[in-house]
Amino acid sequence: MSKNVRITTHPSFDVLAATTAARLITRLLDVQSERGEATVVLTGGSVGIATLREIAKSPAHLAVDWSKVNFWFGDDRFVETDSEDRNYGQAADALLNHIPVDPARVHAMAASDTVADLEEAVATYAQELALAAKTEWQNDDEASGEAPVVPRFDVLLLGLGPDAHIASLFPELAGIRTKGVPVVGVRNSPKPPPLRVSLTLETINSAQEIWIVAAGADKAAAVGLGLAGASEVQVPASGARGLNKTLWLLDEASAAKVPSALKRRES
Ligand code: 6PG
Repeated sequence: MSKNVRITTHPSFDVLAATTAARLITRLLDVQSERGEATVVLTGGSVGIATLREIAKSPAHLAVDWSKVNFWFGDDRFVETDSEDRNYGQAADALLNHIPVDPARVHAMAASDTVADLEEAVATYAQELALAAKTEWQNDDEASGEAPVVPRFDVLLLGLGPDAHIASLFPELAGIRTKGVPVVGVRNSPKPPPLRVSLTLETINSAQEIWIVAAGADKAAAVGLGLAGASEVQVPASGARGLNKTLWLLDEASAAKVPSALKRRES
């Protein structure tokens, strides 16, 4: 296994969410002290949203300058603004509505009642990413060549489905095979709702750090296959690799098929 892949297991779902929250707060503080601003890509799913709730509860979150954190989403369900299915709404309820964010730095994917169709939602998010990337590139004295199409992501969070999907990239479907574009529309998600917008694997893998968070026995096979280096088309999670680091943050149940020599335990 590549040396920048790390697996850490936690005794329970609650400890995993609390520890991931503490880890993210610390990472944001470190990045802000180096660069002034920090960028995180959020995920839906039970662990991802519980992590956001834990951040809001933690006194340590007051140390972060939330007005200088850029928020993006790895995927979202293409549903109406008020739908409870929307990852953005869940993230807002859990954290974003409770901290002093700069609304201009919170980049939700479009809801279905705000654009004409899925294609427009995909195009809009790609433009928003490109604009942020260009602004960042213009402000970087050391930048050269052409502006990238996506900004720097310091931490990109991913939930994991029992079928090993990440974001809305599902096994064997077109999304996981899509290359050369930053964002993809999904029309046939096997997990409802069927219409989704997702970052592509190339975009996901442009992140400095990817943190895959998973809990529950139903994820054990997906975790095992993801770490065994299975094909990314069949096991999308196995294709996720951060530029600097890839963390698998697991509970005991989801880590059941990870060889014990690879596990670090946090309790
Ligand atoms: C979705 C979810 C999904 C989720 C995983 C893990 O859009 O359907 O966001 O991708 O992240 O299925 O979910 P749990 O953490 O709830 O198991």
